[in-house]
Amino acid sequence: MTDLSTIRDEALGAVQRAADLAALDAARVAALGKKGSVTGLMKTLGGLAPDQRKEFGARVNQLKGEIEVALEARKSALSASALAAKLSNERVDVSLPARPEFASAREGTLHPVGQVMDELAAIFGEMGFTWADGPDIEDDWHNFTALNIPPDHPARQMQDTFYLPPRADGTPIVLRTHTSPVQARTMLDELVQKMLHDGGSLRVIVPGRTFRIDSDATHTPMFHQVEGLVLDRTTHMGHLKGCLVDFCRAFFEVDDLPLRFRPSYFPFTEPSAEVDIGCSWKDGELRIGAGDSWLEILGSGMVHPNVIRNCGLDPAVYQGFAFGMGIDRIAMLKYGIPDLRSFFDSDLRWLRHYGFSALESVR
Ligand code: PHE
Repeated sequence: MTDLSTIRDEALGAVQRAADLAALDAARVAALGKKGSVTGLMKTLGGLAPDQRKEFGARVNQLKGEIEVALEARKSALSASALAAKLSNERVDVSLPARPEFASAREGTLHPVGQVMDELAAIFGEMGFTWADGPDIEDDWHNFTALNIPPDHPARQMQDTFYLPPRADGTPIVLRTHTSPVQARTMLDELVQKMLHDGGSLRVIVPGRTFRIDSDATHTPMFHQVEGLVLDRTTHMGHLKGCLVDFCRAFFEVDDLPLRFRPSYFPFTEPSAEVDIGCSWKDGELRIGAGDSWLEILGSGMVHPNVIRNCGLDPAVYQGFAFGMGIDRIAMLKYGIPDLRSFFDSDLRWLRHYGFSALESVR
């Protein structure tokens, strides 16, 4: 019969030496498995005399219990050190400086369109304007009819306007061709009507996306406009002029920038004026300011009485002005960006060159 203490020493020694959970399991199988050394001892019990069997059986059982306790203890020690090793392997030193490619060298930039929108909000904000929004997908009524654009007006023809499938009730749907439908949406707003009724003055700008079927160096199918609307009981053409002169001088940062108001036509304003800013060309380079040339930058006019009436207000009581301007276009002019299409190419080199620091705040 194999000596009990030899088996004990071997089994407990193997448990202690086990360097990982796999080795520990091998030690368990070697002692307590089907063909294990302790199991082997159990099998010899049947061949012993009854009193011997009782005494030896108790000792084998005790040994089995001892090995089980040792296995359990070793198992938790190994698991704890495996966790500790994993934690120390995966440790990061959060106090180390970021690698350059993740820090300043890769700092993102603001797109010129977003930058100019911020500038618009800052300049018009100082004049008391708030920011209004409307949907890009617009119904024909807000985009055209409310704005006094009759059904046979060329602006409605398929070559300019992106038409979407009509609504279930037959309402024609378009991608808005200008931000002017938000004039109507704003005037129709109950709170705005109440505020006007109480003698208040409406002043909003509406920067946003607009869509027309058009594509070349100065036109993209999607572009940006900013609409302006001022309405109360007394605002007149002089206010329109003053507001736009102040805006253009502030935006282009030229204190004596000359403006030219040219009579024009829009269905939703009367009278209407297109506005040009003074400029000159030197060696093919554009300079904004007093000079011998003009650049058209916006359309404007006194809100047409029909529009005011279409929006549920009395044109005998309320009057005001509106204007609309291409954001991309004024961004190109101010920052010397030659091709409009490049605005929407998402070319990182372009964005790094023409983009603005997010940390540089707008005046
Ligand atoms: N909506 C006009 C356009 O897109 C611009 C405009 C707006 C003109 C408001 C007058 C008043 O061309």
